[in-house]
Amino acid sequence: NTYDFGLVGLGVMGRNFILNVADNGFTAMGNDLDTKKVQALIDEGGNVDKVNATVEVSAFAKALSSPRKIMLLVPAGKVVDIVIESLLPHLDKGDIIIDGGNSFFTDTDRREAYLAEKGIHFFGAGVSGGAKGARKGPSIMPGGSKPGYAAVQPIFEAVSAKYNGEPCVAYLGPKSAGNYVKMVHNGIEYGLMQLTSEMYDVLKKAGKLSNQELHETYKSWNEGRLQSFLVEITSEIFVEKDTLTDGDLVDQILDKAKQKGTGKWTSQNAMDLGIPVPSIDIAVSMREISALKDERTVADSLYDRPEVATMAKEKLTDLTEKALYFSYIITYAQGLHQLADASKEYGYDLDIAVIAKIWRAGCIIRAKLLADITNAFTEDSELPNLLLSPSFIPKIQDTVDAARELVAFGAVNGIPLPGLSNSLTYFDAYTSTRLPLNVIQAQRDYFGSHTYERLDREGIFHTEWEK
Ligand code: 6PG
Repeated sequence: NTYDFGLVGLGVMGRNFILNVADNGFTAMGNDLDTKKVQALIDEGGNVDKVNATVEVSAFAKALSSPRKIMLLVPAGKVVDIVIESLLPHLDKGDIIIDGGNSFFTDTDRREAYLAEKGIHFFGAGVSGGAKGARKGPSIMPGGSKPGYAAVQPIFEAVSAKYNGEPCVAYLGPKSAGNYVKMVHNGIEYGLMQLTSEMYDVLKKAGKLSNQELHETYKSWNEGRLQSFLVEITSEIFVEKDTLTDGDLVDQILDKAKQKGTGKWTSQNAMDLGIPVPSIDIAVSMREISALKDERTVADSLYDRPEVATMAKEKLTDLTEKALYFSYIITYAQGLHQLADASKEYGYDLDIAVIAKIWRAGCIIRAKLLADITNAFTEDSELPNLLLSPSFIPKIQDTVDAARELVAFGAVNGIPLPGLSNSLTYFDAYTSTRLPLNVIQAQRDYFGSHTYERLDREGIFHTEWEK
Protein backbone atom coordinates (compact mmCIF):
# COMPACT_ATOMS: atom_id res chain seq x y z
CA ASN A 1 0.00 0.00 0.00
CA THR A 2 1.34 3.44 -0.81
CA TYR A 3 0.07 6.72 0.51
CA ASP A 4 -0.29 10.03 -1.34
CA PHE A 5 0.86 12.28 1.47
CA GLY A 6 3.08 12.03 4.53
CA LEU A 7 3.02 14.18 7.63
CA VAL A 8 5.54 14.34 10.47
CA GLY A 9 4.34 15.74 13.79
CA LEU A 10 1.01 14.44 14.99
CA GLY A 11 0.18 17.15 17.50
CA VAL A 12 -3.26 18.65 17.21
CA MET A 13 -2.40 20.61 14.03
CA GLY A 14 -0.76 17.63 12.33
CA ARG A 15 -3.51 15.19 13.25
CA ASN A 16 -6.21 17.55 12.05
CA PHE A 17 -4.37 18.36 8.83
CA ILE A 18 -3.96 14.69 7.95
CA LEU A 19 -7.63 13.94 8.63
CA ASN A 20 -8.51 16.86 6.37
CA VAL A 21 -6.27 15.40 3.63
CA ALA A 22 -8.08 12.07 4.00
CA ASP A 23 -11.51 13.74 3.92
CA ASN A 24 -10.58 15.07 0.51
CA GLY A 25 -9.95 11.66 -0.98
CA PHE A 26 -6.17 11.38 -0.57
CA THR A 27 -4.47 8.65 1.41
CA ALA A 28 -2.13 9.83 4.14
CA MET A 29 0.54 8.46 6.42
CA GLY A 30 1.59 10.07 9.68
CA ASN A 31 4.78 9.87 11.69
CA ASP A 32 5.59 10.88 15.24
CA LEU A 33 8.01 9.73 17.91
CA ASP A 34 5.13 9.45 20.34
CA THR A 35 3.36 6.06 20.08
CA LYS A 36 0.26 7.50 21.77
CA LYS A 37 -0.13 10.14 19.07
CA VAL A 38 0.42 7.53 16.37
CA GLN A 39 -2.27 5.30 17.85
CA ALA A 40 -4.66 8.22 18.35
CA LEU A 41 -4.46 9.05 14.65
CA ILE A 42 -4.96 5.42 13.58
CA ASP A 43 -8.02 5.21 15.84
CA GLU A 44 -9.46 8.49 14.63
CA GLY A 45 -8.73 7.73 10.97
CA GLY A 46 -10.84 4.59 11.19
CA ASN A 47 -9.44 2.89 8.08
CA VAL A 48 -5.69 2.24 7.79
CA ASP A 49 -5.91 2.04 4.01
CA LYS A 50 -6.81 5.73 4.06
CA VAL A 51 -5.06 7.08 7.15
CA ASN A 52 -2.21 5.28 8.80
CA ALA A 53 0.68 6.23 11.08
CA THR A 54 3.93 4.83 12.40
CA VAL A 55 6.73 5.73 14.78
CA GLU A 56 9.29 4.22 12.39
CA VAL A 57 10.83 6.73 9.99
CA SER A 58 11.90 4.02 7.52
CA ALA A 59 8.43 2.45 7.43
CA PHE A 60 6.95 5.91 7.03
CA ALA A 61 9.19 6.71 4.06
CA LYS A 62 8.62 3.28 2.44
CA ALA A 63 4.87 3.75 2.61
CA LEU A 64 4.82 6.95 0.56
CA SER A 65 4.28 7.07 -3.20
CA SER A 66 6.97 8.66 -5.37
CA PRO A 67 7.89 11.46 -5.35
CA ARG A 68 7.33 11.50 -1.61
CA LYS A 69 5.39 14.50 -0.37
CA ILE A 70 6.19 15.00 3.29
CA MET A 71 4.88 17.86 5.36
CA LEU A 72 6.41 18.78 8.72
CA LEU A 73 4.17 20.24 11.39
CA VAL A 74 6.66 20.40 14.24
CA PRO A 75 7.78 23.30 16.45
CA ALA A 76 9.95 25.86 14.65
CA GLY A 77 13.67 25.81 15.38
CA LYS A 78 16.07 22.93 15.90
CA VAL A 79 13.36 20.26 15.75
CA VAL A 80 12.88 20.98 12.04
CA ASP A 81 16.57 20.29 11.35
CA ILE A 82 16.49 17.13 13.45
CA VAL A 83 13.45 15.79 11.61
CA ILE A 84 15.00 16.60 8.22
CA GLU A 85 18.21 14.73 9.17
CA SER A 86 16.21 11.72 10.33
CA LEU A 87 14.27 11.61 7.05
CA LEU A 88 17.20 12.12 4.67
CA PRO A 89 18.65 8.56 4.64
CA HIS A 90 15.21 7.26 3.59
CA LEU A 91 14.51 9.73 0.77
CA ASP A 92 15.19 9.73 -2.97
CA LYS A 93 16.08 12.56 -5.32
CA GLY A 94 12.95 14.45 -6.37
CA ASP A 95 11.17 13.94 -3.05
CA ILE A 96 9.49 16.94 -1.48
CA ILE A 97 9.60 18.24 2.08
CA ILE A 98 7.25 21.01 3.14
CA ASP A 99 7.74 22.88 6.40
CA GLY A 100 4.27 23.88 7.57
CA GLY A 101 5.45 25.50 10.82
CA ASN A 102 6.23 29.09 11.73
CA SER A 103 9.92 28.77 10.84
CA PHE A 104 12.07 31.88 10.70
CA PHE A 105 12.45 32.73 7.03
CA THR A 106 16.24 32.67 6.89
CA ASP A 107 16.17 29.13 8.34
CA THR A 108 13.96 28.16 5.41
CA ASP A 109 16.44 29.66 2.93
CA ARG A 110 19.29 27.75 4.55
CA ARG A 111 17.36 24.47 4.51
CA GLU A 112 16.24 24.92 0.93
CA ALA A 113 19.83 25.41 -0.25
CA TYR A 114 21.08 22.48 1.82
CA LEU A 115 18.41 20.11 0.54
CA ALA A 116 18.65 21.30 -3.08
CA GLU A 117 22.23 19.98 -3.09
CA LYS A 118 20.80 16.58 -2.24
CA GLY A 119 18.14 16.76 -4.93
CA ILE A 120 15.30 17.25 -2.43
CA HIS A 121 12.71 19.97 -3.05
CA PHE A 122 12.13 21.87 0.15
CA PHE A 123 9.76 24.70 0.75
CA GLY A 124 8.06 26.53 3.59
CA ALA A 125 4.29 26.83 3.65
CA GLY A 126 2.69 28.90 6.39
CA VAL A 127 -0.51 27.33 7.65
CA SER A 128 -3.02 29.53 9.43
CA GLY A 129 -6.32 28.85 11.10
CA GLY A 130 -5.45 27.01 14.28
CA ALA A 131 -6.65 23.50 15.04
CA LYS A 132 -10.09 23.99 13.54
CA GLY A 133 -8.61 25.49 10.38
CA ALA A 134 -6.26 22.54 9.95
CA ARG A 135 -9.25 20.19 10.23
CA LYS A 136 -11.81 22.10 8.15
CA GLY A 137 -9.73 24.25 5.82
CA PRO A 138 -6.77 26.48 6.63
CA SER A 139 -5.25 29.27 4.61
CA ILE A 140 -1.94 27.97 3.25
CA MET A 141 0.96 30.22 2.22
CA PRO A 142 3.54 28.26 0.22
CA GLY A 143 6.67 29.59 -1.43
CA GLY A 144 10.00 28.16 -2.56
CA SER A 145 10.50 25.27 -4.94
CA LYS A 146 7.96 25.67 -7.78
CA PRO A 147 8.15 22.07 -9.04
CA GLY A 148 7.90 20.94 -5.44
CA TYR A 149 4.77 23.00 -4.97
CA ALA A 150 3.26 21.76 -8.25
CA ALA A 151 3.39 18.20 -6.89
CA VAL A 152 1.34 19.02 -3.79
CA GLN A 153 -0.84 21.71 -5.34
CA PRO A 154 -3.88 19.42 -5.89
CA ILE A 155 -3.75 18.28 -2.26
CA PHE A 156 -3.30 21.80 -0.86
CA GLU A 157 -6.06 23.21 -3.05
CA ALA A 158 -8.41 20.47 -1.88
CA VAL A 159 -7.72 20.82 1.84
CA SER A 160 -7.54 24.62 2.03
CA ALA A 161 -10.36 26.95 3.03
CA LYS A 162 -12.51 28.23 0.17
CA TYR A 163 -13.67 31.79 -0.42
CA ASN A 164 -16.56 31.82 -2.92
CA GLY A 165 -15.21 28.48 -4.12
CA GLU A 166 -11.66 29.78 -4.62
CA PRO A 167 -8.98 27.90 -2.63
CA CYS A 168 -7.14 29.94 -0.01
CA VAL A 169 -3.74 28.76 -1.16
CA ALA A 170 -1.44 30.01 -3.90
CA TYR A 171 2.21 29.78 -4.79
CA LEU A 172 3.57 33.06 -3.43
CA GLY A 173 7.16 33.26 -4.62
CA PRO A 174 10.64 31.75 -4.48
CA LYS A 175 12.77 30.90 -1.45
CA SER A 176 11.22 31.66 1.94
CA ALA A 177 8.33 33.73 0.53
CA GLY A 178 5.78 31.42 2.19
CA ASN A 179 7.26 31.67 5.67
CA TYR A 180 7.83 35.40 5.28
CA VAL A 181 4.22 36.04 4.32
CA LYS A 182 3.02 33.89 7.24
CA MET A 183 5.30 35.83 9.60
CA VAL A 184 3.77 39.15 8.53
CA HIS A 185 0.30 37.57 8.74
CA ASN A 186 1.10 36.90 12.38
CA GLY A 187 2.44 40.43 12.90
CA ILE A 188 -0.87 41.76 11.61
CA GLU A 189 -2.62 39.21 13.85
CA TYR A 190 -0.79 40.66 16.88
CA GLY A 191 -1.85 44.18 15.87
CA LEU A 192 -5.52 43.29 15.37
CA MET A 193 -5.64 41.34 18.63
CA GLN A 194 -4.21 44.28 20.57
CA LEU A 195 -6.69 46.71 19.01
CA THR A 196 -9.62 44.39 19.65
CA SER A 197 -8.65 44.16 23.31
CA GLU A 198 -8.26 47.95 23.65
CA MET A 199 -11.86 48.52 22.58
CA TYR A 200 -12.94 46.04 25.26
CA ASP A 201 -10.97 48.03 27.84
CA VAL A 202 -12.54 51.35 27.02
CA LEU A 203 -16.06 49.93 26.64
CA LYS A 204 -15.74 48.31 30.03
CA LYS A 205 -14.11 51.21 31.87
CA ALA A 206 -15.90 54.18 30.35
CA GLY A 207 -19.11 52.57 29.11
CA LYS A 208 -19.49 50.14 32.02
CA LEU A 209 -20.64 47.47 29.58
CA SER A 210 -21.35 44.09 31.14
CA ASN A 211 -19.86 40.97 29.56
CA GLN A 212 -23.25 40.25 28.02
CA GLU A 213 -23.33 43.75 26.51
CA LEU A 214 -19.76 43.35 25.28
CA HIS A 215 -20.80 40.09 23.65
CA GLU A 216 -23.72 41.80 21.94
CA THR A 217 -21.61 44.76 20.82
CA TYR A 218 -18.89 42.61 19.23
CA LYS A 219 -21.52 40.32 17.75
CA SER A 220 -23.22 43.25 16.06
CA TRP A 221 -19.84 44.51 14.81
CA ASN A 222 -19.26 41.10 13.35
CA GLU A 223 -22.43 41.52 11.32
CA GLY A 224 -21.10 44.71 9.71
CA ARG A 225 -17.94 46.00 8.07
CA LEU A 226 -15.81 44.72 10.98
CA GLN A 227 -16.84 41.14 10.23
CA SER A 228 -13.78 39.03 11.01
CA PHE A 229 -12.70 35.90 12.80
CA LEU A 230 -11.08 37.82 15.67
CA VAL A 231 -14.14 39.99 16.36
CA GLU A 232 -16.34 36.90 16.16
CA ILE A 233 -14.35 34.84 18.66
CA THR A 234 -13.97 37.84 20.96
CA SER A 235 -17.76 38.20 21.11
CA GLU A 236 -17.97 34.58 22.20
CA ILE A 237 -15.15 34.91 24.74
CA PHE A 238 -17.19 37.46 26.73
CA VAL A 239 -19.98 35.03 27.53
CA GLU A 240 -17.99 31.89 28.25
CA LYS A 241 -18.95 30.76 31.75
CA ASP A 242 -16.21 29.80 34.18
CA THR A 243 -16.28 26.20 35.35
CA LEU A 244 -14.31 26.92 38.54
CA THR A 245 -16.29 29.88 39.83
CA ASP A 246 -19.78 31.02 39.01
CA GLY A 247 -18.61 34.06 37.06
CA ASP A 248 -17.47 34.62 33.50
CA LEU A 249 -14.19 33.05 32.43
CA VAL A 250 -12.77 36.21 30.84
CA ASP A 251 -12.71 37.95 34.23
CA GLN A 252 -10.50 35.21 35.71
CA ILE A 253 -7.89 35.00 32.96
CA LEU A 254 -4.51 36.42 33.97
CA ASP A 255 -3.65 39.50 31.92
CA LYS A 256 -0.16 38.38 30.87
CA ALA A 257 0.07 37.53 27.16
CA LYS A 258 2.56 34.97 25.93
CA GLN A 259 4.18 34.94 22.50
CA LYS A 260 6.06 32.51 20.37
CA GLY A 261 8.05 35.03 18.35
CA THR A 262 6.43 35.65 14.97
CA GLY A 263 5.12 39.10 15.91
CA LYS A 264 8.49 40.11 17.27
CA TRP A 265 10.22 38.83 14.12
CA THR A 266 7.85 40.91 12.00
CA SER A 267 8.80 44.05 13.93
CA GLN A 268 12.49 43.22 13.93
CA ASN A 269 12.57 42.58 10.22
CA ALA A 270 10.52 45.70 9.49
CA MET A 271 13.26 47.65 11.31
CA ASP A 272 15.89 45.92 9.16
CA LEU A 273 13.99 46.88 6.03
CA GLY A 274 13.35 50.42 7.27
CA ILE A 275 9.58 50.05 6.98
CA PRO A 276 7.45 51.54 9.78
CA VAL A 277 4.93 49.12 11.34
CA PRO A 278 4.19 50.87 14.66
CA SER A 279 0.79 49.21 15.12
CA ILE A 280 2.56 45.85 15.13
CA ASP A 281 5.54 47.06 17.19
CA ILE A 282 3.29 48.30 19.96
CA ALA A 283 1.34 45.04 20.02
CA VAL A 284 4.61 43.22 20.75
CA SER A 285 5.55 45.82 23.39
CA MET A 286 2.15 45.46 25.05
CA ARG A 287 2.64 41.70 25.43
CA GLU A 288 5.98 42.54 27.04
CA ILE A 289 4.43 45.14 29.36
CA SER A 290 1.66 42.69 30.21
CA ALA A 291 4.27 40.18 31.37
CA LEU A 292 5.49 42.68 34.01
CA LYS A 293 2.39 42.09 36.13
CA ASP A 294 4.18 42.35 39.49
CA GLU A 295 5.94 45.59 38.61
CA ARG A 296 2.72 46.97 37.16
CA THR A 297 0.92 46.19 40.37
CA VAL A 298 3.54 48.03 42.46
CA ALA A 299 3.61 50.99 40.07
CA ASP A 300 -0.19 51.18 40.13
CA SER A 301 -0.02 51.87 43.87
CA LEU A 302 2.58 54.64 43.44
CA TYR A 303 0.75 56.96 41.07
CA ASP A 304 -2.57 58.68 40.99
CA ARG A 305 -4.70 57.89 38.03
CA PRO A 306 -7.53 60.04 36.69
CA GLU A 307 -10.98 58.89 37.48
CA VAL A 308 -12.51 57.51 34.31
CA ALA A 309 -15.38 59.61 33.04
CA THR A 310 -18.37 57.67 31.85
CA MET A 311 -19.53 57.99 28.29
CA ALA A 312 -22.99 57.11 27.03
CA LYS A 313 -23.01 53.53 25.74
CA GLU A 314 -24.45 54.40 22.38
CA LYS A 315 -21.88 57.08 21.70
CA LEU A 316 -19.04 54.87 22.90
CA THR A 317 -20.02 51.84 20.84
CA ASP A 318 -20.20 54.06 17.78
CA LEU A 319 -16.76 55.58 18.47
CA THR A 320 -15.14 52.21 19.19
CA GLU A 321 -16.63 50.60 16.08
CA LYS A 322 -15.22 53.35 13.91
CA ALA A 323 -11.88 53.46 15.71
CA LEU A 324 -11.48 49.71 15.41
CA TYR A 325 -12.28 49.77 11.69
CA PHE A 326 -9.84 52.65 11.17
CA SER A 327 -7.03 50.97 13.08
CA TYR A 328 -7.61 47.56 11.45
CA ILE A 329 -7.12 49.25 8.06
CA ILE A 330 -3.96 50.98 9.26
CA THR A 331 -2.55 47.71 10.60
CA TYR A 332 -3.18 45.83 7.35
CA ALA A 333 -1.69 48.79 5.47
CA GLN A 334 1.53 48.56 7.49
CA GLY A 335 1.88 44.79 7.16
CA LEU A 336 1.23 44.88 3.42
CA HIS A 337 3.69 47.75 3.02
CA GLN A 338 6.29 45.57 4.71
CA LEU A 339 5.49 42.69 2.36
CA ALA A 340 5.83 44.92 -0.71
CA ASP A 341 9.22 46.09 0.46
CA ALA A 342 10.45 42.63 1.50
CA SER A 343 9.41 41.39 -1.93
CA LYS A 344 11.94 43.75 -3.53
CA GLU A 345 14.63 43.24 -0.92
CA TYR A 346 14.51 39.42 -0.94
CA GLY A 347 13.39 38.87 -4.54
CA TYR A 348 10.09 37.21 -3.58
CA ASP A 349 8.15 38.85 -6.42
CA LEU A 350 5.01 38.88 -4.29
CA ASP A 351 1.60 39.73 -5.65
CA ILE A 352 -0.15 41.49 -2.77
CA ALA A 353 -3.60 40.92 -4.32
CA VAL A 354 -2.98 37.17 -4.29
CA ILE A 355 -1.90 37.30 -0.64
CA ALA A 356 -4.99 39.30 0.37
CA LYS A 357 -7.10 36.79 -1.59
CA ILE A 358 -5.82 33.75 0.25
CA TRP A 359 -6.32 35.54 3.58
CA ARG A 360 -10.04 36.03 2.91
CA ALA A 361 -10.93 32.69 4.51
CA GLY A 362 -9.31 30.07 6.73
CA CYS A 363 -6.69 32.19 8.48
CA ILE A 364 -6.76 34.00 11.82
CA ILE A 365 -6.81 37.48 10.24
CA ARG A 366 -9.63 36.69 7.83
CA ALA A 367 -11.97 39.65 7.62
CA LYS A 368 -14.51 41.24 5.34
CA LEU A 369 -11.96 44.02 4.81
CA LEU A 370 -9.69 41.62 2.94
CA ALA A 371 -12.12 41.50 0.03
CA ASP A 372 -11.76 45.30 -0.30
CA ILE A 373 -7.99 45.01 0.10
CA THR A 374 -7.89 42.36 -2.63
CA ASN A 375 -9.79 44.70 -4.94
CA ALA A 376 -7.51 47.64 -4.16
CA PHE A 377 -4.38 45.67 -5.08
CA THR A 378 -6.06 44.04 -8.08
CA GLU A 379 -6.81 47.52 -9.43
CA ASP A 380 -3.26 48.70 -8.78
CA SER A 381 -0.69 45.98 -8.18
CA GLU A 382 2.04 48.58 -7.59
CA LEU A 383 0.14 50.39 -4.83
CA PRO A 384 2.88 51.27 -2.30
CA ASN A 385 0.45 51.65 0.59
CA LEU A 386 -3.21 50.80 1.07
CA LEU A 387 -3.77 54.39 2.29
CA LEU A 388 -3.07 55.59 -1.24
CA SER A 389 -5.90 53.49 -2.69
CA PRO A 390 -8.82 55.69 -3.83
CA SER A 391 -11.27 53.09 -2.49
CA PHE A 392 -9.84 53.38 1.03
CA ILE A 393 -9.93 57.17 1.31
CA PRO A 394 -13.68 57.31 2.16
CA LYS A 395 -13.31 54.44 4.68
CA ILE A 396 -10.62 56.40 6.51
CA GLN A 397 -12.39 59.74 6.21
CA ASP A 398 -15.48 58.21 7.76
CA THR A 399 -13.65 56.85 10.81
CA VAL A 400 -10.57 58.94 11.56
CA ASP A 401 -12.39 61.57 13.63
CA ALA A 402 -13.77 58.85 15.90
CA ALA A 403 -10.23 57.50 16.29
CA ARG A 404 -9.07 61.00 17.29
CA GLU A 405 -11.85 61.43 19.80
CA LEU A 406 -11.20 58.04 21.37
CA VAL A 407 -7.42 58.53 21.58
CA ALA A 408 -8.00 61.88 23.29
CA PHE A 409 -10.52 60.32 25.65
CA GLY A 410 -8.11 57.52 26.52
CA ALA A 411 -5.29 59.99 27.18
CA VAL A 412 -7.39 62.23 29.42
CA ASN A 413 -8.87 59.32 31.34
CA GLY A 414 -5.72 57.24 31.72
CA ILE A 415 -6.91 54.32 29.60
CA PRO A 416 -4.00 53.04 27.53
CA LEU A 417 -4.96 52.75 23.87
CA PRO A 418 -1.50 52.30 22.39
CA GLY A 419 -2.49 50.32 19.31
CA LEU A 420 -5.10 52.89 18.38
CA SER A 421 -2.90 55.88 19.11
CA ASN A 422 0.05 54.40 17.21
CA SER A 423 -2.26 53.74 14.28
CA LEU A 424 -3.52 57.31 14.37
CA THR A 425 -0.02 58.74 14.69
CA TYR A 426 1.15 56.62 11.78
CA PHE A 427 -1.74 57.93 9.73
CA ASP A 428 -1.09 61.56 10.66
CA ALA A 429 2.62 61.26 9.94
CA TYR A 430 2.21 59.29 6.72
CA THR A 431 -0.23 61.89 5.43
CA SER A 432 1.93 64.92 6.37
CA THR A 433 3.93 66.58 3.62
CA ARG A 434 6.04 68.34 6.20
CA LEU A 435 7.30 66.65 9.37
CA PRO A 436 9.56 68.23 12.00
CA LEU A 437 12.47 66.00 11.02
CA ASN A 438 14.19 69.01 9.48
CA VAL A 439 15.09 69.84 13.07
CA ILE A 440 16.60 66.39 13.55
CA GLN A 441 18.71 66.88 10.44
CA ALA A 442 19.85 70.26 11.81
CA GLN A 443 20.72 68.67 15.18
CA ARG A 444 22.70 65.91 13.46
CA ASP A 445 24.61 68.46 11.46
CA TYR A 446 25.11 70.68 14.53
CA PHE A 447 26.70 68.07 16.76
CA GLY A 448 28.19 65.70 14.23
CA SER A 449 28.60 67.50 10.89
CA HIS A 450 26.34 64.84 9.39
CA THR A 451 25.18 67.27 6.66
CA TYR A 452 21.65 67.94 5.39
CA GLU A 453 19.76 68.46 2.18
CA ARG A 454 17.59 71.48 1.36
CA LEU A 455 14.06 71.96 0.12
CA ASP A 456 14.96 74.70 -2.31
CA ARG A 457 18.13 73.42 -4.02
CA GLU A 458 20.06 70.25 -4.84
CA GLY A 459 23.20 69.21 -3.03
CA ILE A 460 24.63 68.29 0.34
CA PHE A 461 25.07 71.11 2.86
CA HIS A 462 26.89 71.66 6.13
CA THR A 463 26.74 74.65 8.44
CA GLU A 464 29.26 75.84 11.04
CA TRP A 465 26.60 76.12 13.75
CA GLU A 466 28.78 77.24 16.66
CA LYS A 467 29.93 80.74 15.91
C1 6PG B 1 -2.24 31.03 12.91
C2 6PG B 1 -1.53 31.52 14.15
C3 6PG B 1 -0.55 30.54 14.70
C4 6PG B 1 0.24 31.06 15.91
C5 6PG B 1 -0.59 31.45 17.08
C6 6PG B 1 0.20 31.69 18.35
O1 6PG B 1 -2.13 31.74 11.92
O2 6PG B 1 -2.89 29.98 12.94
O3 6PG B 1 -0.82 32.69 13.83
O4 6PG B 1 0.36 30.21 13.68
O5 6PG B 1 1.09 30.06 16.31
O6 6PG B 1 -1.34 32.55 16.79
O7 6PG B 1 1.07 32.76 18.25
P1 6PG B 1 1.64 33.45 19.57
O8 6PG B 1 1.88 32.35 20.56
O9 6PG B 1 2.93 34.10 19.18
O10 6PG B 1 0.60 34.39 20.03
